[in-house]
Amino acid sequence: MEKHARIFVAGHRGLVGSALVRSLREKGYDQLLLRTHAELDLTDQAATRAFFALEKPAYVFLAAARVGGILANDTYPADFIRDNLAIQSNIVDAAWRSGVERLLFLGSSCIYPKLAPQPLREEYLLTGPLEPTNRPYAVAKIAGIEMCWSYNRQYGTRYLAAMPTNLYGPGDNYDLDNSHVLPALIRKMHEAKQRGDGEVVIWGTGTPRREFLYSDDLGDACVFLMSLPDEKYAALIAPDKAPLINIGCGEDVTIRELAETAAGVVGFGGQLRFDTGKPDGTPRKLLDVSAMNALGWRPGTPLRAGIEKAYLDFRTHFATADAGK
Ligand SMILES: NC(=O)c1ccc[n+]([C@@H]2O[C@H](COP(=O)([O-])OP(=O)(O)OC[C@H]3O[C@@H](n4cnc5c(N)ncnc54)[C@H](OP(=O)(O)O)[C@@H]3O)[C@@H](O)[C@H]2O)c1
Repeated sequence: MEKHARIFVAGHRGLVGSALVRSLREKGYDQLLLRTHAELDLTDQAATRAFFALEKPAYVFLAAARVGGILANDTYPADFIRDNLAIQSNIVDAAWRSGVERLLFLGSSCIYPKLAPQPLREEYLLTGPLEPTNRPYAVAKIAGIEMCWSYNRQYGTRYLAAMPTNLYGPGDNYDLDNSHVLPALIRKMHEAKQRGDGEVVIWGTGTPRREFLYSDDLGDACVFLMSLPDEKYAALIAPDKAPLINIGCGEDVTIRELAETAAGVVGFGGQLRFDTGKPDGTPRKLLDVSAMNALGWRPGTPLRAGIEKAYLDFRTHFATADAGK
């Protein structure tokens, strides 16, 4: 990617999109095309096509999506499948029509079968039934990968799909009804500390293992992929296999270890009580990241250092009443 190339970051105000913008700016890319949801509704095919025809981006990072936790996925399954199919179809097609050179589609590890062996390798895609709670979302993401692959085969485009593990970082969602495990732990512990509570209750046994990646490391990985020399990039999108690559740190921790680390960062000294009556979910979810490692990429932020940065951001933007305490 040339430093003055026109680069569209779709979803630039989200957790992933904002990390992409930070990474691109830090590396000197100065022609970023950014549109808020209100300025450009990417489910609107005509508006999306008109944007691409006018602005002619050379590179596209597709990080716009309808995203949410189990509750939102369960309550609004139609919205999740409709909006995600529409956003990605409109962008992938408009990118081809306007001659985009490379496109990176952001997927998620939920595309893999619920009972696939661990760690999850890219070739496990479509080898078994999905986790039912977010199947409409996962099916939309799988369709996005399939679209990238199909456009590459039929039209010679150069689209790649990245599957990140669980992310956290600046601008995360701290709404307890709808947040992922780590931001929920940060908020619960912060509020318990403020109230002087003696314990925080955590769902499940604390034994499931999960992998976490700091969002700026993902941003860095995505820019790394889009900047690969032609030969290496071409190998990732070879027509004989789905053009997808996992992005993670390759290590997992138990929910108990995660909670203990978060408590240390937040300064919550009370008890962690595990509510074993609540479901644990799948025992382990870890991505196989050997393809990224073979290309020479590894994340730079250890878990504790990342949680420290996330907590600082939480206090600055979401807990303003007590910022600085
Ligand atoms: N967060 C994670 O742990 C995680 C893990 C793996 C993969 N991913 C993937 O990364 C991608 C981005 O996730 P995220 O966590 O960054 O989500 P996010 O924080 O919710 O950001 C999504 C962005 O997309 C925008 N958007 C949604 N619908 C739009 C529309 N119709 N038109 C224009 N913009 C629209 C949103 O704007 P508004 O808020 O204004 O609607 C928001 O800025 C998703 O594909 C997700 O699957 C995320």
